[in-house]
Amino acid sequence: MARTQSFIADDAETSAFAADVVKGLSAQRKRVPPKYFYDAVGSELFERITEQPEYYPTRCEMSILREQGAEIAKLIVPGAALIEFGSGSNKKARILLAAAPALAAYVPVDICGPMLAQEAAELAPDFPSLNVRPVEADFTQPFALPQEAVDAPARVGFFPGSTIGNLEPHEASAFLRNAAKTLGPGARMIIGADLVKDSETLNAAYNDAAGFTEKFNLNLLTRMNRELGGTFDLKTFEHHAFYNRERQRVEMHLASTKRQKVKVAGECFDFRAGETIHTENSYKYTPDSLAALARGVGWEPAGVWTDADCRFSIQAFSLPETAKV
Ligand code: SAH
Ligand code: AVI
Repeated sequence: MARTQSFIADDAETSAFAADVVKGLSAQRKRVPPKYFYDAVGSELFERITEQPEYYPTRCEMSILREQGAEIAKLIVPGAALIEFGSGSNKKARILLAAAPALAAYVPVDICGPMLAQEAAELAPDFPSLNVRPVEADFTQPFALPQEAVDAPARVGFFPGSTIGNLEPHEASAFLRNAAKTLGPGARMIIGADLVKDSETLNAAYNDAAGFTEKFNLNLLTRMNRELGGTFDLKTFEHHAFYNRERQRVEMHLASTKRQKVKVAGECFDFRAGETIHTENSYKYTPDSLAALARGVGWEPAGVWTDADCRFSIQAFSLPETAKV
C-alpha cells in the first residue's frame, strides 16, 4: 500500500468515513461497513429494491404490520415515545402509528439526513397531532433523545426492515445493550427480522433482475469517488451476492474484474483480479436465535408474528422495570 497525501477531509463525518474506508481496505479481506450505502442516492436505490418482485422482506413485513398492527401496537402504552432506528421511508412506522395510542413523540433516527428530513416533513401533515422529532445519528453509537422522549412515561423502540441483520451478531448485541440504556427500564422493542430460508429465495432477493441491488452496491464506489477523492472505475467492479448457509447470512461483495490499483481517501490500494470488497452481510434469524441474542443483554421475549409463509418475523421484547441498564 503506497501512501499519498492528496486527500483532506473537511468535516468530522467525512473523516470518519475516510478512516473506516482506509481501515477496511487495508484489511486482508477488504471490507467497507454497510452503513455507508445510505447517501441520498443509496437511500433512493434501497426504496427501488423494496419494490422489486424478488425482494420479499418489505412486502412480508408490511403484511404482518397490516394484519397484526393492532396487536403489536398494544405494546405501546398511551403517552409513550416511539423511537425508530434506521427509519428510512417511515412507511412501516405509518402503519404502527395509525394503530398506536396518542404518543408523546415519534423519533425517527437515521444516518441519512436528506431522507430523514424529507420523510419527517411528509409525515407531519398526515399525523397532525403527532410530535415528530427526527434525529440524524448513527444508531450504533450513543446519541441523545429529544427531551419529549426522555420525559415520556415509557419508550418503545422500533427497528424494522431486518436492518438488525446488517450488524454482526456481536454488534447486534451491543446495539441492543445500548438501546436498553437509551430507552430505559420498562422499555419495549419491536424488531423486524428476516428468517432463515432456502438459498434460492435469498439469492434471488439480492440479485434482482432489474439490477437495483447491483446499482445500490456499486453506488458505494461512486460515493467513495465523490466524497473521498476515489478513482474506482465502476466498469471494473462486479456485484456479487450469495447466501452463505453455514453462517446464515447473505453476503454482498464488489469484485474487481482485473488486477488494478485504486486511490481513495489519500491512499493507494492494490486489487488482485477477482479480489472483493465485502460490503454487506444480511444475517437471517430464527425466532429462537434472535430471542437468545436479545435475552443475552437483558431483553425478555414478548411476542412473535410472522407472515403466512413464515418468511419474515416481527419480534417484540421488553426490558423489566428492575433492569440495570
Ligand atoms: N426502516 C426502513 C429502512 C431500512 S434500510 C425499512 O424497513 O424499509 C436501512 C435504514 O437504516 C436506512 O434508512 C439507513 O440510512 C439506516 N441506517 C443504516 N445504518 C445506520 C446506522 N448505523 N445508523 C443510523 N441509521 C442507519
Ligand atoms: C436494509 N437491509 C436490511 C437490507 C438487507 O436486505 O440487508 C439492505 C439490502 N441490501 C441489499 N438489498 C437490500
